[in-house]
Amino acid sequence: MYFPELKEKVVLVIGAFQGIGKSVVETFQKEEASVIACDIAFEEVKLTKTATDFYKMHLDISQEEEVIQLTQQLEEKHLVPDVLVHVAGISTVDFLTESRTTDFDKVQTVNTRGAYLSSKYVTALMQTHNKNGRVIFVASQAGKNGYKGMSAYVASKHAVLGLCKTLALEVAQNNILVNAVCPGIVETPMKHRERVEGGEIRGMSAQEVLEEDQSQVPLGRTGTTQDVANVILFLASPLSSYMTGQAINVTGGMTMN
Ligand SMILES: NC(=O)c1ccc[n+]([C@@H]2O[C@H](COP(=O)([O-])OP(=O)(O)OC[C@H]3O[C@@H](n4cnc5c(N)ncnc54)[C@H](O)[C@@H]3O)[C@@H](O)[C@H]2O)c1
Repeated sequence: MYFPELKEKVVLVIGAFQGIGKSVVETFQKEEASVIACDIAFEEVKLTKTATDFYKMHLDISQEEEVIQLTQQLEEKHLVPDVLVHVAGISTVDFLTESRTTDFDKVQTVNTRGAYLSSKYVTALMQTHNKNGRVIFVASQAGKNGYKGMSAYVASKHAVLGLCKTLALEVAQNNILVNAVCPGIVETPMKHRERVEGGEIRGMSAQEVLEEDQSQVPLGRTGTTQDVANVILFLASPLSSYMTGQAINVTGGMTMN
């Protein structure tokens, strides 16, 4: 445990099933926080306690009714979050002029609308209960730069950073701190799929894309999910109490702005 202050705090993780979100869950469990893990991949229809201080629930973050039901259940069970970590996201790979409009809409619905809905309802709950909470978005370096073949995703991550900065201004008076992490290239199921699909449109194998990825990172390696979870932990901790509206790169030096 690094931060005794986080013991028994309620941490809501949206997009908790695999990849970065799974590491975030494990990281806060080590801090002995009460973790509420939500994901479209979980089966539990209602908020379910599956272990001491661990709760699970199915949630499609793009569905407003589901987000409202989640916040109602959190309130009923006296589990108003101290920390929201919004991780859930999807990506599609295609060149903009060749891409499908339905893919564009799908990515905006999950990434942009999802981040809007979670921050809207969960932050309102924090305000109602006078929580000096933390909201942490997992955006991306794609929220700061363009990437070939990733127009829908890049647009959505720029939007997430816009939501982050605006919400930070609006709830600063409540001492709710709102920040984002911008990961670079992180080894997760999403990244592995992107290498296959990105390789296909560029005439490269997934292995060649991996080698290209590695060569682009000044620190010489791609990121682990724990690299990202560590910075999220910092943003939830007392050490970051004078930070809000920030977008922190976790990219091994790949993005510096
Ligand atoms: N892997 C990377 O290189 C990388 C880089 C920068 C940013 N990110 C961002 O980090 C976040 C996590 O990515 P990852 O690489 O771990 O991806 P992943 O696909 O491995 O995990 C994403 C998780 O989100 C969940 N999810 C998807 N749609 C959902 C929905 N509608 N409602 C609820 N949950 C949903 C999935 O079930 C999954 O558990 C994403 O927002 C992604 O854009 C990833």
